[in-house]
Amino acid sequence: MSCRTGQTRIRKRLKYHRMPCFLPARFIIPFMLNVHVIDHPVIQTKLSELRDQSTDTRAFRLLLDEIAMLMTYEVTRDWPTVKRGVRTPMEETTGEVLARPVTLVPILRAGLGMADGVKRILSDARLGHLGVSRNEKTLLPDSYYAKLPPDVKETEVLLIDPMLATGGSAVYAIDFLKKQGVTSLKFMCLVAAPEGIDTLHAKHPEVPIYCCAIDRQLDERGYIMPGLGDAGDRLFGT
Ligand code: PRP
Ligand code: URA
Repeated sequence: MSCRTGQTRIRKRLKYHRMPCFLPARFIIPFMLNVHVIDHPVIQTKLSELRDQSTDTRAFRLLLDEIAMLMTYEVTRDWPTVKRGVRTPMEETTGEVLARPVTLVPILRAGLGMADGVKRILSDARLGHLGVSRNEKTLLPDSYYAKLPPDVKETEVLLIDPMLATGGSAVYAIDFLKKQGVTSLKFMCLVAAPEGIDTLHAKHPEVPIYCCAIDRQLDERGYIMPGLGDAGDRLFGT
């Protein structure tokens, strides 16, 4: 690919198709079907600390973990349950349990920083891994690893990654999961750019997107503004 074609492609990828409205996209998108912004005050407080450039690796890990745990209640709210008999110390009764097993799929690397927090709530969840790295020049996703439970298609799948920027990594991961037969899937991130939501929604409109914030836009390098910088680097100290 020539440099010029590459630049054009990046510009096209970064272009957000604005809606015919004077409001910025981040005010409109929450009303779109399948986009859920979790604006709980405790989560927002932790997210502000996470964004702060003076937050060190140790605090960043803790905050990412805590936010992922708190988000999980909201993200799993509509999962189906089945009735199950249970004997209390007093008598027989009927309880409810999740209808299907759960598979958690972090997109490596940064998604790993959310996995323990989610597992604290969904302690029986199995873990799949997808290694996807965004090429810094083309902004296109490069895949380098994939390992999923063999029966992943029978499960509720939660795909996790703190950042939805151009949407390339998430679209790649969802394409891959669908090829494995996954039908019940949610995408969970912390910070989303309007461009990424637009791209993901266009390719996979039925996949719900859960985030804590929709930021203003991408910059010319494909970073979310104001964002929180490079999530993987801040998480792993690289
Ligand atoms: C980051 C982030 C997402 C991706 C988002 O990962 O964790 O996976 O970028 O960007 P996109 O929406 O434009 O695809 P990165 O590729 O930097 O890899 P890392 O987690 O190993 O640092
Ligand atoms: N990946 C990140 O880690 N941060 C961004 O702002 C965009 C992509």
